[in-house]
Amino acid sequence: MSNPKRVYNFNPGPAVLPLEVLQQAQAELLDFKGTGMSVMEISHRSKEFEAVIQTAEADLRELLGIPANYKILFLQGGASLQFAMLPMNLRAAGASADYIVTGVWGKTAIKEARKIGKARTAANTEADGFTSIPETLDLDPQAAYLHFTSNETIHGIEYFTEPTPPAGVPLICDASSDFISHPIDVSKYGLIYAGAQKNAGPSGVTIVIIRDDLLERVPANLPVMLDYKAQAATGSMHNTPPSFSVYMVGLVFKWALKSGGLTEIEKTNRKKAELVYQAIDQSGGFYRGHAQPAARSLMNIPFRLPSEELEETFSKEAKNAGLIGLKGHRSVGGMRASIYNAMTVEGTQALVNFMADFQRKNG
Ligand SMILES: Cc1ncc(COP(=O)(O)O)c(C=O)c1O
Repeated sequence: MSNPKRVYNFNPGPAVLPLEVLQQAQAELLDFKGTGMSVMEISHRSKEFEAVIQTAEADLRELLGIPANYKILFLQGGASLQFAMLPMNLRAAGASADYIVTGVWGKTAIKEARKIGKARTAANTEADGFTSIPETLDLDPQAAYLHFTSNETIHGIEYFTEPTPPAGVPLICDASSDFISHPIDVSKYGLIYAGAQKNAGPSGVTIVIIRDDLLERVPANLPVMLDYKAQAATGSMHNTPPSFSVYMVGLVFKWALKSGGLTEIEKTNRKKAELVYQAIDQSGGFYRGHAQPAARSLMNIPFRLPSEELEETFSKEAKNAGLIGLKGHRSVGGMRASIYNAMTVEGTQALVNFMADFQRKNG
């Protein structure tokens, strides 16, 4: 690492950011583009900030290949607010929406949707401990939409082929933890949302990509901050946007384009994930992965050790070795390695070397 104080950061989110992006933000912190001010200090109505938000949007459009008939919104409230905004905007009074539940986040999304209306479970893999992608779906052809979570951050379950909704039912995706980690065909989706703080930047901004025709469903009486149509009409500037977070995601989008775009990023992500899964699979059962092989996430890899004591020791010793954020979520237990876009192959290799070493000493 060029900066000796940096650690290998496997945090699930907020998470590691590309060093180049942090260095650019640092270089521009006191004087943003000759304004004599930080980007945090300039008006969101200034031409400098307008350029920041417009460039971020244009770069994301290029990165994901977002067609012209989709709007990109930069909102606040995290992905958690989208759990409520989505049904408020796109599920008409009395209508029902379908949800595929493959982990804690899908479960939370449907719970929120049910507080304010009807939602059906199209599939739920909780009985198998959230270790798989469902093979069959029970779909309502009249559903307002079909919602799924492309990557379950806690259980490490990822979709690589989108589920297919019935004709005319828009597909909605919570892409918070695998956003811009591999190419997708945006035209298959009605709406995609993602909290930024895993692959796209710091917390504070949530990206929503919505197909234009869905804006016509938005009811007339929604509070303006919860209204996709109003947010789209004002270019996400009805009020003060989270300007520093928007600036940072803009830098990350530029970095991703410079890294060769999503095809190249996916190649690196596959290489990193393969390193970790191999370390698990070749450990003779010392390390045990959570997900079934076909559902294995490229982003979050939960795994267990033979005992909780060893897991505790692993976490402590890893930290001493400069490998941070490996303790798993309490609902799965054990360890979890989050290897988002900005985690390097070198950092992943350091983890894998540590795992081999640890097993040698404790296996
Ligand atoms: C897949 C997924 N959805 C939703 C959320 C909630 O995001 P936020 O904290 O931005 O509300 C998370 C947070 O980790 C997540 O991983």
